[in-house]
Amino acid sequence: MSTPEVPAPHPGIAGAPDAGTIARLANALFSALPTGAVPEPGAALGSAPLFVAEPLQSAIPGTPPLTPPLRPNHNPGSASPTIGAARPSAPLFALDPKLAAEPAHAPAAPLDLTVPLAATPVAPAPASAPAIQPVFVRETDLAALPGRLGDVRSIVPPDTAGAGPFGASAAAASAPLYFLADNPLARVTPAAAPTAVPRAETFDLAGLATQHRTDVHVLDRSGARPFDAHVFKRDFPILQETVNGRPLVWLDNGATTQKPQCVIDRLAHFYKHENSNIHRAAHTLAARSTDAYEAAREKVRAFINAPSVKDIVFVRGATEAINLAAQAWGRRNIGEGDEIVVSHLEHHANIVPWQQLAAEKGARLRVAPVDDHGQILLDEYEKLLGPKTKIVAFTQVSNALGTITPVAEMTALAHRHGARVLVDGAQGICHLPVDVQTLDVDFYAFSGHKMFAPTGVGVLYGKADVLEAMPPWQGGGNMIADVTFEKTIFQGPPDRFEAGTGNIADAVGLGAAIDYLSRIGMANVAAHEHELLAYGTEQLLTVPGLKLIGTAKEKAGILSFVLDGCRSEDVGKALDREGIAVRAGHHCAQPILRRFGLESTVRPSLALYNTHDDIDALVDALRRLQSGRGVK
Ligand code: ALA
Repeated sequence: MSTPEVPAPHPGIAGAPDAGTIARLANALFSALPTGAVPEPGAALGSAPLFVAEPLQSAIPGTPPLTPPLRPNHNPGSASPTIGAARPSAPLFALDPKLAAEPAHAPAAPLDLTVPLAATPVAPAPASAPAIQPVFVRETDLAALPGRLGDVRSIVPPDTAGAGPFGASAAAASAPLYFLADNPLARVTPAAAPTAVPRAETFDLAGLATQHRTDVHVLDRSGARPFDAHVFKRDFPILQETVNGRPLVWLDNGATTQKPQCVIDRLAHFYKHENSNIHRAAHTLAARSTDAYEAAREKVRAFINAPSVKDIVFVRGATEAINLAAQAWGRRNIGEGDEIVVSHLEHHANIVPWQQLAAEKGARLRVAPVDDHGQILLDEYEKLLGPKTKIVAFTQVSNALGTITPVAEMTALAHRHGARVLVDGAQGICHLPVDVQTLDVDFYAFSGHKMFAPTGVGVLYGKADVLEAMPPWQGGGNMIADVTFEKTIFQGPPDRFEAGTGNIADAVGLGAAIDYLSRIGMANVAAHEHELLAYGTEQLLTVPGLKLIGTAKEKAGILSFVLDGCRSEDVGKALDREGIAVRAGHHCAQPILRRFGLESTVRPSLALYNTHDDIDALVDALRRLQSGRGVK
């Protein structure tokens, strides 16, 4: 007699939970949704509880702990066409809590989610939306599901090829070729206007189902939750490291930020499933990589509210962005006797390229001074502006002092004199919401690696009329419309400025970092860091012999200081022995440190994942250092 076949436990989940647990989790998840909440299009909450990690469990009172805790099955590349046919854009489905609660629908394992967990629309689909099918997922198919909530949306029916769980969402004209799983344009008829992708500025439970596992955070019923940096810290694997036997305290965010799991996963996914050169070839991988890259450009555009993706040039980082502006715009627009105005706060990257240009052209570099707090003296700045001023280049946030400059005001003053404005946003973009249209800047430069994205990618935003009138900087492939030996016709912006094969994967990673930041909301990041900065300032001032350098009224994320009787480098080394990473040195901003009579400072710098505990660890170590007991 043959033994009846017993389905094996779900292979992707250690200690698979029983059906009742799943149902309770599902109920809790669903009841936590604010009334009338509409999950993001493509949400498939029918499977969500199985992919919810510890934060959700601990946030749901009465949920029995699962041992071991539910772990996502990291399998991002295996979106299976056998899984219930979700339309790529299938929107607005959530688990029906009533069904899930019924004991009859919570049988002992194995649980066939197809039967009990019928997907039910929680809001009527918009009339303009195409007909959609609910997502039904069999438990036995779960192994094939990608491991993150956000991935569920991009499971594609067998009749369409998929770009994978990270299907691009660019407003690509080539959607039919590029198979955009979550392309907003794919949800509208070709004649209809593209739907704007909403920007999340606050925590939003409605977005829960489309968040990556590492981004799952549960809100209270009011739809808001306190910003909990401890939760975000868990999104960053490297922050779980120990250094010199101590938990790593990363306070060197001004130099570079750490990368969340979703960015790391995105890079791996790109190389596993999408890697190809872009804008070339008619094959599928070229389409996928082009989509992913152009989707990232659209994400950047939305993040800084640029009018068009054509205004977004991918470069290596803020330094290259400024060099591009200085070389391409500057060489054409700066002549002998012209003036370039910078501020005393600048990083070397916003001094040297202008200095080189001025030397080449016989132009003059002029410097707006700062007061003893490190704030730009606006009256003095204004006095520098005149008919000879062709461009003003200044930082949004000083990397050495943390001063936030009044960008809109300084820009308006420069424009009154007919000068263009370049803002170095390398230290601003990760701390503050940025809207280039409100600021009205002509150029805005930033690096990906200081905003949780990979190194080697950054952005130069330029106003359309400025970029249009700018000649290319480098020549090569990708930037041309036609080449003969007699003549080359260049592409328009942004391609004209992206000669050769760019950093495709890392641009895609930048897009993932922007998704991550957008889900948290830059206003929330700014508020958290502001509070932490205030706490850090107060605490540091209790350390004997400590002097803060940079005490502007408007500051972001930086706590530069010197310690009586200690060399900055020695303080840096001593803190490292405690697992605390800070930058000690001149921070590539020698002029501003010399303005304060210094060659170096110790510079802790903050990011969204820093906590009061991090500040306490820093202050304790400094107190011990100063009390002569030293740090271990
Ligand atoms: N510019 C970076 C810093 O401020 C490297 O540390």
